[in-house]
Amino acid sequence: MIKEIVKNLKPSSTLRINELSKDLELQGKEIFKFGFGQSPFKVPEDVILELKKNAHHNKYLPMQGLPELRNAIAQFESKKKQNKYDESNIIIGPGSKELMFLLHILFDGEVLLPAPSWVSYKPQAILGRNKYHFIETSRERNWFPSAESIENIVSKNKNKNYLLFLNSPNNPCGLVCKNLQEISEVVKKYKILVLSDEIYSDLTFESDFQSISDFCPDQTIVSNGLSKWCGAGGWRLGYFVIPNQFIKLRESLKVLASETFTSVSAPIQYAAIAAFKNDHTEYLNISKNILKSVGNYVYENLRSNKVLISKPQGGFYLMPEFMDKKFKTSEDMCKDMLNKAGVAALPGSDFGFSEKKMYARISFTDFNGDEFMKNIPKNLSIDDNLLNEFAPKIVEGTKRLKAWVEST
Ligand SMILES: Cc1ncc(COP(=O)(O)O)c(C=O)c1O
Repeated sequence: MIKEIVKNLKPSSTLRINELSKDLELQGKEIFKFGFGQSPFKVPEDVILELKKNAHHNKYLPMQGLPELRNAIAQFESKKKQNKYDESNIIIGPGSKELMFLLHILFDGEVLLPAPSWVSYKPQAILGRNKYHFIETSRERNWFPSAESIENIVSKNKNKNYLLFLNSPNNPCGLVCKNLQEISEVVKKYKILVLSDEIYSDLTFESDFQSISDFCPDQTIVSNGLSKWCGAGGWRLGYFVIPNQFIKLRESLKVLASETFTSVSAPIQYAAIAAFKNDHTEYLNISKNILKSVGNYVYENLRSNKVLISKPQGGFYLMPEFMDKKFKTSEDMCKDMLNKAGVAALPGSDFGFSEKKMYARISFTDFNGDEFMKNIPKNLSIDDNLLNEFAPKIVEGTKRLKAWVEST
Protein backbone atom coordinates (compact mmCIF):
# COMPACT_ATOMS: atom_id res chain seq x y z
CA MET A 1 0.00 0.00 0.00
CA ILE A 2 3.01 2.31 -0.01
CA LYS A 3 3.92 4.20 -3.18
CA GLU A 4 7.05 2.97 -4.96
CA ILE A 5 8.58 6.45 -4.88
CA VAL A 6 8.41 6.47 -1.08
CA LYS A 7 9.34 2.81 -0.66
CA ASN A 8 12.49 3.42 -2.65
CA LEU A 9 13.68 6.18 -0.33
CA LYS A 10 16.23 4.45 1.83
CA PRO A 11 16.62 5.63 5.41
CA SER A 12 19.85 7.61 5.40
CA SER A 13 22.88 6.08 7.08
CA THR A 14 22.52 8.92 9.60
CA LEU A 15 19.72 6.90 11.19
CA ARG A 16 21.80 3.74 11.25
CA ILE A 17 24.69 5.60 12.90
CA ASN A 18 22.28 7.07 15.48
CA GLU A 19 20.86 3.62 16.26
CA LEU A 20 24.32 2.16 16.64
CA SER A 21 25.25 5.08 18.96
CA LYS A 22 22.24 4.35 21.16
CA ASP A 23 23.12 0.63 21.35
CA LEU A 24 26.67 1.45 22.38
CA GLU A 25 25.46 3.94 24.99
CA LEU A 26 23.15 1.29 26.44
CA GLN A 27 26.19 -0.95 26.75
CA GLY A 28 27.75 1.79 28.89
CA LYS A 29 30.17 3.15 26.30
CA GLU A 30 30.85 6.90 26.20
CA ILE A 31 29.72 8.34 22.87
CA PHE A 32 30.86 11.66 21.42
CA LYS A 33 27.87 12.98 19.49
CA PHE A 34 29.58 14.58 16.53
CA GLY A 35 26.78 13.60 14.15
CA PHE A 36 23.98 15.81 15.33
CA GLY A 37 23.45 19.23 13.69
CA GLN A 38 21.66 21.17 16.39
CA SER A 39 22.45 24.57 17.94
CA PRO A 40 24.05 24.12 21.39
CA PHE A 41 22.64 27.46 22.61
CA LYS A 42 19.44 28.50 24.36
CA VAL A 43 16.87 30.71 22.67
CA PRO A 44 17.57 34.38 23.67
CA GLU A 45 15.75 35.29 26.90
CA ASP A 46 13.68 38.14 25.37
CA VAL A 47 12.30 35.75 22.74
CA ILE A 48 11.40 33.11 25.35
CA LEU A 49 9.59 35.79 27.33
CA GLU A 50 7.54 36.72 24.25
CA LEU A 51 6.53 33.08 23.79
CA LYS A 52 5.28 32.95 27.37
CA LYS A 53 3.37 36.21 26.90
CA ASN A 54 1.74 34.99 23.71
CA ALA A 55 0.64 31.51 24.77
CA HIS A 56 -3.03 32.62 24.74
CA HIS A 57 -3.14 33.08 20.94
CA ASN A 58 -5.35 30.25 19.79
CA LYS A 59 -6.67 31.29 16.38
CA TYR A 60 -5.45 30.14 12.99
CA LEU A 61 -3.24 32.80 11.44
CA PRO A 62 -3.16 33.87 7.76
CA MET A 63 -1.66 31.17 5.55
CA GLN A 64 1.20 33.41 4.39
CA GLY A 65 2.03 34.15 8.03
CA LEU A 66 1.35 36.85 10.62
CA PRO A 67 1.68 40.27 8.88
CA GLU A 68 3.65 41.83 11.78
CA LEU A 69 6.12 38.95 11.70
CA ARG A 70 6.46 39.13 7.92
CA ASN A 71 7.12 42.83 8.28
CA ALA A 72 9.83 42.24 10.92
CA ILE A 73 11.47 39.59 8.70
CA ALA A 74 11.31 41.86 5.62
CA GLN A 75 13.16 44.56 7.58
CA PHE A 76 15.67 42.05 8.99
CA GLU A 77 16.42 40.73 5.48
CA SER A 78 16.52 44.20 3.88
CA LYS A 79 19.19 45.23 6.42
CA LYS A 80 21.30 42.16 5.57
CA LYS A 81 20.97 42.53 1.82
CA GLN A 82 21.35 45.14 -0.85
CA ASN A 83 17.67 44.64 -1.72
CA LYS A 84 14.53 46.02 -0.18
CA TYR A 85 11.75 43.62 0.72
CA ASP A 86 8.32 44.12 2.23
CA GLU A 87 5.91 41.80 3.98
CA SER A 88 4.36 40.64 0.69
CA ASN A 89 7.71 39.00 -0.19
CA ILE A 90 7.72 36.80 2.91
CA ILE A 91 6.01 33.46 3.53
CA ILE A 92 6.24 31.67 6.89
CA GLY A 93 6.38 27.89 7.25
CA PRO A 94 6.91 25.25 9.95
CA GLY A 95 10.68 25.17 9.34
CA SER A 96 12.40 26.08 6.08
CA LYS A 97 12.57 22.35 5.30
CA GLU A 98 8.80 22.15 4.82
CA LEU A 99 8.79 25.22 2.55
CA MET A 100 11.59 23.64 0.48
CA PHE A 101 9.55 20.47 0.20
CA LEU A 102 6.55 22.43 -1.09
CA LEU A 103 8.82 24.24 -3.54
CA HIS A 104 9.91 20.85 -4.92
CA ILE A 105 6.25 19.84 -5.19
CA LEU A 106 5.26 22.88 -7.24
CA PHE A 107 8.43 23.23 -9.32
CA ASP A 108 8.40 21.75 -12.81
CA GLY A 109 11.94 21.28 -14.09
CA GLU A 110 15.32 19.92 -13.04
CA VAL A 111 17.06 20.42 -9.71
CA LEU A 112 20.78 21.21 -9.38
CA LEU A 113 22.46 20.12 -6.17
CA PRO A 114 26.11 20.72 -5.29
CA ALA A 115 27.93 17.57 -4.18
CA PRO A 116 28.26 17.75 -1.22
CA SER A 117 25.07 19.34 0.07
CA TRP A 118 22.47 18.87 2.81
CA VAL A 119 20.93 15.39 3.11
CA SER A 120 17.29 16.39 2.55
CA TYR A 121 17.60 18.15 -0.81
CA LYS A 122 17.84 14.94 -2.85
CA PRO A 123 14.95 12.97 -1.28
CA GLN A 124 12.76 16.08 -1.53
CA ALA A 125 13.64 16.45 -5.24
CA ILE A 126 12.69 12.79 -5.74
CA LEU A 127 9.38 13.24 -3.93
CA GLY A 128 8.72 16.32 -6.07
CA ARG A 129 9.22 14.01 -9.09
CA ASN A 130 11.85 16.23 -10.62
CA LYS A 131 15.08 15.01 -12.11
CA TYR A 132 18.09 16.07 -10.05
CA HIS A 133 21.76 16.50 -10.94
CA PHE A 134 24.64 16.47 -8.49
CA ILE A 135 27.20 19.08 -9.54
CA GLU A 136 30.83 18.32 -8.96
CA THR A 137 32.73 20.67 -6.65
CA SER A 138 36.29 20.82 -5.33
CA ARG A 139 38.16 21.66 -2.14
CA GLU A 140 39.82 24.58 -3.99
CA ARG A 141 36.38 26.14 -4.50
CA ASN A 142 35.28 25.54 -0.91
CA TRP A 143 33.08 22.69 -2.18
CA PHE A 144 30.83 25.02 -4.18
CA PRO A 145 30.11 24.52 -7.90
CA SER A 146 31.95 26.53 -10.52
CA ALA A 147 29.94 28.55 -13.04
CA GLU A 148 31.28 26.25 -15.73
CA SER A 149 30.04 23.07 -14.05
CA ILE A 150 26.55 24.58 -13.77
CA GLU A 151 26.62 25.78 -17.37
CA ASN A 152 27.71 22.32 -18.58
CA ILE A 153 24.39 20.93 -17.33
CA VAL A 154 21.93 23.68 -18.14
CA SER A 155 23.28 24.47 -21.62
CA LYS A 156 22.37 20.94 -22.75
CA ASN A 157 18.68 21.76 -22.66
CA LYS A 158 17.93 25.45 -22.59
CA ASN A 159 14.15 24.93 -22.68
CA LYS A 160 13.98 23.37 -19.26
CA ASN A 161 13.45 25.18 -15.96
CA TYR A 162 16.28 24.75 -13.48
CA LEU A 163 16.34 25.18 -9.73
CA LEU A 164 19.78 25.54 -8.13
CA PHE A 165 20.28 24.97 -4.39
CA LEU A 166 23.05 27.03 -2.83
CA ASN A 167 23.77 26.84 0.89
CA SER A 168 26.39 29.20 2.33
CA PRO A 169 27.89 28.74 4.92
CA ASN A 170 27.24 25.17 3.99
CA ASN A 171 26.25 21.96 5.62
CA PRO A 172 28.33 19.68 5.57
CA CYS A 173 31.65 21.62 5.28
CA GLY A 174 31.07 24.84 7.24
CA LEU A 175 32.41 26.86 4.31
CA VAL A 176 31.38 30.07 2.58
CA CYS A 177 30.76 30.38 -1.18
CA LYS A 178 33.41 32.68 -2.67
CA ASN A 179 32.35 32.60 -6.33
CA LEU A 180 28.85 34.08 -6.06
CA GLN A 181 29.55 36.62 -8.81
CA GLU A 182 30.44 34.04 -11.48
CA ILE A 183 27.58 31.75 -10.44
CA SER A 184 25.15 34.67 -10.70
CA GLU A 185 26.28 35.33 -14.31
CA VAL A 186 25.18 31.82 -15.34
CA VAL A 187 22.01 32.16 -13.28
CA LYS A 188 21.09 35.31 -15.19
CA LYS A 189 22.14 33.93 -18.58
CA TYR A 190 19.98 30.80 -18.27
CA LYS A 191 17.24 32.26 -16.04
CA ILE A 192 17.90 29.67 -13.35
CA LEU A 193 15.85 29.91 -10.16
CA VAL A 194 18.11 29.87 -7.08
CA LEU A 195 17.10 28.67 -3.64
CA SER A 196 19.63 30.37 -1.38
CA ASP A 197 19.54 28.35 1.82
CA GLU A 198 20.87 30.89 4.34
CA ILE A 199 20.02 28.98 7.52
CA TYR A 200 23.64 29.37 8.79
CA SER A 201 24.20 32.91 7.40
CA ASP A 202 23.93 34.67 10.78
CA LEU A 203 26.63 32.35 12.10
CA THR A 204 29.27 33.43 9.55
CA PHE A 205 32.52 33.83 11.52
CA GLU A 206 34.50 36.41 9.53
CA SER A 207 33.37 39.52 7.59
CA ASP A 208 29.78 40.08 6.67
CA PHE A 209 27.71 37.41 5.06
CA GLN A 210 27.14 37.84 1.35
CA SER A 211 24.11 36.38 -0.38
CA ILE A 212 23.74 35.42 -4.03
CA SER A 213 20.61 37.59 -3.90
CA ASP A 214 22.96 40.61 -3.88
CA PHE A 215 24.06 39.58 -7.38
CA CYS A 216 20.83 38.22 -8.91
CA PRO A 217 17.96 39.41 -6.65
CA ASP A 218 15.22 38.72 -9.17
CA GLN A 219 16.24 35.09 -9.56
CA THR A 220 16.77 34.25 -5.89
CA ILE A 221 14.46 32.90 -3.22
CA VAL A 222 16.12 33.34 0.18
CA SER A 223 15.44 30.69 2.81
CA ASN A 224 16.10 31.12 6.53
CA GLY A 225 14.47 30.66 9.92
CA LEU A 226 14.92 30.49 13.68
CA SER A 227 16.49 27.02 13.87
CA LYS A 228 20.22 27.73 13.85
CA TRP A 229 21.11 31.31 14.79
CA CYS A 230 18.32 31.54 17.38
CA GLY A 231 18.78 28.05 18.83
CA ALA A 232 15.12 27.26 18.13
CA GLY A 233 15.09 24.21 15.82
CA GLY A 234 12.26 22.67 17.80
CA TRP A 235 10.07 25.75 17.47
CA ARG A 236 9.72 25.00 13.77
CA LEU A 237 9.67 28.40 12.18
CA GLY A 238 11.23 29.12 8.80
CA TYR A 239 10.54 31.51 5.94
CA PHE A 240 11.15 32.24 2.28
CA VAL A 241 11.82 35.68 0.82
CA ILE A 242 10.31 35.55 -2.66
CA PRO A 243 11.12 38.31 -5.18
CA ASN A 244 8.23 40.18 -6.81
CA GLN A 245 8.70 38.53 -10.17
CA PHE A 246 7.74 35.17 -8.64
CA ILE A 247 4.35 36.27 -7.32
CA LYS A 248 2.66 33.33 -9.05
CA LEU A 249 5.05 30.93 -7.38
CA ARG A 250 4.32 32.59 -4.02
CA GLU A 251 0.58 32.18 -4.61
CA SER A 252 1.02 28.48 -5.46
CA LEU A 253 3.13 28.04 -2.33
CA LYS A 254 0.30 29.61 -0.32
CA VAL A 255 -2.19 27.15 -1.82
CA LEU A 256 0.07 24.22 -0.87
CA ALA A 257 0.54 25.70 2.61
CA SER A 258 -3.21 26.06 3.07
CA GLU A 259 -3.74 22.44 2.01
CA THR A 260 -1.05 21.06 4.29
CA PHE A 261 0.07 22.83 7.48
CA THR A 262 -2.48 25.73 7.28
CA SER A 263 -0.30 28.14 9.28
CA VAL A 264 2.55 27.97 11.78
CA SER A 265 1.61 27.83 15.48
CA ALA A 266 0.29 31.26 16.54
CA PRO A 267 2.31 31.73 19.79
CA ILE A 268 5.53 30.86 17.95
CA GLN A 269 4.80 33.43 15.24
CA TYR A 270 4.06 36.16 17.81
CA ALA A 271 7.25 35.32 19.74
CA ALA A 272 9.32 35.29 16.56
CA ILE A 273 8.59 39.01 16.00
CA ALA A 274 10.99 39.75 18.89
CA ALA A 275 13.64 37.47 17.38
CA PHE A 276 13.76 39.55 14.21
CA LYS A 277 12.98 43.01 15.65
CA ASN A 278 15.15 43.10 18.78
CA ASP A 279 18.89 43.55 18.64
CA HIS A 280 20.64 40.19 19.16
CA THR A 281 24.11 41.34 18.14
CA GLU A 282 25.66 40.43 21.49
CA TYR A 283 24.03 36.97 21.62
CA LEU A 284 25.22 36.33 18.05
CA ASN A 285 28.74 37.64 18.68
CA ILE A 286 29.16 35.34 21.66
CA SER A 287 27.64 32.38 19.76
CA LYS A 288 30.02 32.96 16.85
CA ASN A 289 33.02 33.44 19.12
CA ILE A 290 32.33 30.11 20.82
CA LEU A 291 31.53 28.20 17.63
CA LYS A 292 34.57 29.59 15.84
CA SER A 293 36.88 28.68 18.73
CA VAL A 294 35.45 25.18 19.12
CA GLY A 295 35.56 24.60 15.34
CA ASN A 296 39.15 25.83 15.14
CA TYR A 297 40.13 23.57 18.01
CA VAL A 298 38.82 20.49 16.17
CA TYR A 299 40.38 21.68 12.91
CA GLU A 300 43.81 22.41 14.41
CA ASN A 301 43.97 19.20 16.40
CA LEU A 302 42.72 16.88 13.72
CA ARG A 303 44.34 18.13 10.53
CA SER A 304 47.48 16.39 9.36
CA ASN A 305 48.83 14.84 6.20
CA LYS A 306 46.41 11.98 6.94
CA VAL A 307 43.38 14.20 7.52
CA LEU A 308 42.53 16.94 5.03
CA ILE A 309 40.11 19.57 6.31
CA SER A 310 39.26 23.17 5.49
CA LYS A 311 39.04 25.59 8.39
CA PRO A 312 35.37 26.23 9.25
CA GLN A 313 34.03 29.66 8.24
CA GLY A 314 30.52 29.51 9.66
CA GLY A 315 27.85 27.30 11.22
CA PHE A 316 28.90 24.21 13.12
CA TYR A 317 30.32 21.60 10.80
CA LEU A 318 33.51 20.43 9.18
CA MET A 319 34.18 17.72 6.67
CA PRO A 320 37.50 15.88 7.05
CA GLU A 321 38.80 13.45 4.47
CA PHE A 322 40.70 10.52 6.02
CA MET A 323 43.45 9.77 3.54
CA ASP A 324 44.80 6.57 5.11
CA LYS A 325 41.50 4.88 5.81
CA LYS A 326 40.65 2.11 3.38
CA PHE A 327 37.08 0.98 3.85
CA LYS A 328 34.59 -0.15 1.23
CA THR A 329 32.34 2.82 1.98
CA SER A 330 32.39 5.96 4.11
CA GLU A 331 29.51 4.44 6.11
CA ASP A 332 31.74 1.47 7.00
CA MET A 333 34.43 3.94 8.04
CA CYS A 334 31.97 5.84 10.30
CA LYS A 335 30.87 2.57 11.93
CA ASP A 336 34.51 1.72 12.67
CA MET A 337 35.08 5.23 14.05
CA LEU A 338 32.05 4.82 16.31
CA ASN A 339 32.98 1.34 17.50
CA LYS A 340 36.64 2.06 18.15
CA ALA A 341 36.75 5.77 19.10
CA GLY A 342 33.16 6.24 20.32
CA VAL A 343 32.82 9.18 17.92
CA ALA A 344 29.54 9.37 16.01
CA ALA A 345 29.98 11.21 12.69
CA LEU A 346 28.03 11.03 9.43
CA PRO A 347 29.35 9.45 6.23
CA GLY A 348 30.14 11.71 3.27
CA SER A 349 27.98 9.49 1.05
CA ASP A 350 24.85 10.94 2.73
CA PHE A 351 25.80 14.33 1.35
CA GLY A 352 26.32 13.35 -2.28
CA PHE A 353 30.00 12.29 -2.19
CA SER A 354 30.94 8.96 -3.74
CA GLU A 355 30.68 6.31 -1.01
CA LYS A 356 34.24 5.28 -1.86
CA LYS A 357 35.60 8.63 -0.74
CA MET A 358 36.52 8.62 2.94
CA TYR A 359 34.72 11.79 4.05
CA ALA A 360 32.82 12.22 7.30
CA ARG A 361 30.77 15.15 8.51
CA ILE A 362 31.61 16.32 11.98
CA SER A 363 29.33 18.60 13.97
CA PHE A 364 31.12 20.39 16.82
CA THR A 365 28.10 21.05 19.03
CA ASP A 366 28.46 18.38 21.73
CA PHE A 367 28.72 20.90 24.58
CA ASN A 368 26.41 22.92 26.83
CA GLY A 369 26.20 26.22 24.95
CA ASP A 370 24.18 27.92 27.68
CA GLU A 371 26.84 27.27 30.35
CA PHE A 372 29.60 28.28 27.97
CA MET A 373 27.82 31.49 27.03
CA LYS A 374 27.16 32.47 30.67
CA ASN A 375 30.78 32.03 31.61
CA ILE A 376 32.67 34.04 29.04
CA PRO A 377 32.77 37.81 28.85
CA LYS A 378 31.91 39.36 25.50
CA ASN A 379 35.03 39.45 23.36
CA LEU A 380 37.30 37.22 25.35
CA SER A 381 39.43 34.98 23.23
CA ILE A 382 38.73 31.40 24.13
CA ASP A 383 41.80 29.37 25.02
CA ASP A 384 42.27 25.63 25.52
CA ASN A 385 41.61 25.94 29.27
CA LEU A 386 38.14 27.35 28.62
CA LEU A 387 37.52 24.67 26.01
CA ASN A 388 38.56 21.98 28.49
CA GLU A 389 36.15 23.40 31.03
CA PHE A 390 33.10 24.12 28.86
CA ALA A 391 33.48 21.77 25.88
CA PRO A 392 35.14 18.70 27.46
CA LYS A 393 33.47 16.23 25.09
CA ILE A 394 34.79 18.13 22.09
CA VAL A 395 38.32 18.01 23.51
CA GLU A 396 38.18 14.33 24.47
CA GLY A 397 36.30 13.28 21.30
CA THR A 398 38.90 15.03 19.14
CA LYS A 399 41.67 13.26 21.05
CA ARG A 400 40.04 9.88 20.50
CA LEU A 401 39.45 10.64 16.85
CA LYS A 402 43.11 11.52 16.45
CA ALA A 403 44.14 8.25 18.10
CA TRP A 404 41.77 6.39 15.74
CA VAL A 405 43.40 8.11 12.75
CA GLU A 406 46.82 6.94 13.94
CA SER A 407 45.64 3.37 14.50
CA THR A 408 45.59 1.08 11.52
C1 LIG B 1 21.41 23.21 5.24
C2 LIG B 1 20.14 23.14 6.01
N1 LIG B 1 19.03 23.69 5.50
C3 LIG B 1 17.86 23.64 6.14
C4 LIG B 1 17.76 23.01 7.37
C5 LIG B 1 16.40 22.89 8.02
O1 LIG B 1 16.09 23.95 8.80
P1 LIG B 1 14.65 24.15 9.43
O2 LIG B 1 14.78 23.81 10.87
O3 LIG B 1 14.33 25.61 9.17
O4 LIG B 1 13.66 23.27 8.74
C6 LIG B 1 18.89 22.44 7.96
C7 LIG B 1 18.79 21.74 9.26
O5 LIG B 1 19.53 20.90 9.63
C8 LIG B 1 20.12 22.50 7.25
O6 LIG B 1 21.25 21.97 7.77
